[in-house]
Amino acid sequence: MVISALNPDLDSVTTSDVIVISYIILPANDNGDSEIIFNAHPALVKKIEKLFAIELRDELTFFTPTGKAGELNEIPVSAADSPVEKIILLGLGDQSLASFRTAGAVLGRKVRGAEKNFATIAPTKRDEIIAFATSAVLGEYTWNQKSTAKPSSSEIEIVTADAEPVSYASVISGAVCRARDLIHTPSNIKTPLWMANQARAIASEYGLEINVISGTALKEFGGLRAVGNSSPNPGPRFIHLTYTPKSGKKSARMPHVVLVGKGITFDTGGISLKRPYDTMMAMKSDMAGAAAALATISALPQLGAQVKVSVLMMCAENALSGTSQRPSDVIKHYGGKTVEVINTDAEGRLVLADGLAYADINLDPDYVVDIATLTGAATLGLGRQYAAMYTRNSHLARTISEIGERTGDRVWHMPLIDDYTDGLESDIADLNHTADKGHYGAGSVTAALFLEQFVGDRQWVHLDIAGTARSESDSGENPKGGTGFGVRLLVEWLTSLS
Ligand code: BES
Ligand code: MN
Ligand code: ZN
Repeated sequence: MVISALNPDLDSVTTSDVIVISYIILPANDNGDSEIIFNAHPALVKKIEKLFAIELRDELTFFTPTGKAGELNEIPVSAADSPVEKIILLGLGDQSLASFRTAGAVLGRKVRGAEKNFATIAPTKRDEIIAFATSAVLGEYTWNQKSTAKPSSSEIEIVTADAEPVSYASVISGAVCRARDLIHTPSNIKTPLWMANQARAIASEYGLEINVISGTALKEFGGLRAVGNSSPNPGPRFIHLTYTPKSGKKSARMPHVVLVGKGITFDTGGISLKRPYDTMMAMKSDMAGAAAALATISALPQLGAQVKVSVLMMCAENALSGTSQRPSDVIKHYGGKTVEVINTDAEGRLVLADGLAYADINLDPDYVVDIATLTGAATLGLGRQYAAMYTRNSHLARTISEIGERTGDRVWHMPLIDDYTDGLESDIADLNHTADKGHYGAGSVTAALFLEQFVGDRQWVHLDIAGTARSESDSGENPKGGTGFGVRLLVEWLTSLS
């Protein structure tokens, strides 16, 4: 779907099929009267009312509105020489960014399949326009491979004098939808090679550097090979993209951030087969971290971000076959650490370990961030609304948490509990990979402690998005399936670093 900016005058607004006007309701005063306030220039509202010979306040009162975010009522209208067929009145709740997102998503859902233009008079502040317009695109999003599907021809035109926030929202929402497309693609299509080809196409579209490593060149990537060699054809891929800003501030040294994404194109669990078997249905989404990292880097050149970013997509299929790794195998990771494999379903940390060590040893990053659908335990702890965030840097944790609340990709700072580290001891290797020695439980925490062994002394953030990467229902901003979680958070954080 397209979003664009539209001039705030009657002639522009009345060339659309639908006019959307948002409102708030002020709480009742001493006399018990509540007041409806339209979020639009009063002169424009007057002109619209005159053209269609209606009183918007009366029309709305007829519906006994509460004003809650996303409350939607439709008024059929007609006037000679105008294609407008209805006016939608849309509640903005308490006008928090969360309310703008809710209202935007409701409008987006209304626009689905409508094949009409919606001239939308909504927010006025930059942040609000971005939240509203982004969520409108996300709410409109659908994905399917029905042979009868046709591309959306709907358009939301945001009525504003300043087009900049609308184009920003268009880049952000485009990137989130790109991640969703990758996540929704079924695993018979989505091999690690296919992921590499997607990354190549994006790299050439936006002028990013790309290097893909496969086959015998992956010799040192013991974790990626141990997992990915379970699927003979076409085998695992290490996909390395780089964004270097074109024109930079000369004075200050530009920060370099490395994003490492878990790219398991399907997770059967391997020999430690997932059970019950239904839990496998969701596992085409197990590359959501890599998808978010790729979508994020695709947005940076479009926004002219002044930060150097490398993305490492750790792509492999965790299949069940004669070449699957076994519980009790010992593997050697990039950089030389040895690991005793306990449960082949804990494959994410094995592929990430290679990526984290690669970043530490070769890329001299200021920050390393990994993003992964890593543990069911993260979902048990936080549900589907918050991702688990681990870092030793409490200042950075606060910054990222705040950005999460603002963008809607919310994260909760979790503890790296040192007392549990002895669970990672192995009698025969440097580490055992599931921290089963201590019987500590806390599966999301011990997975994070395992990853930390590979980051050296780097500033590091780990995002466990197992709960947030997928939505089990088609509601709000999300379709059933991949959400694109992490893209808004990472783009906003990265652009704030410059
Ligand atoms: N990809 C899964 C985690 C997951 C589960 C993501 C449910 C989304 C929804 C991961 O590879 C996995 O299987 N983790 C195991 C680790 C365990 C064997 C130590 C888990 O969480 O059960
Ligand atoms: Mn697994
Ligand atoms: Zn997995």
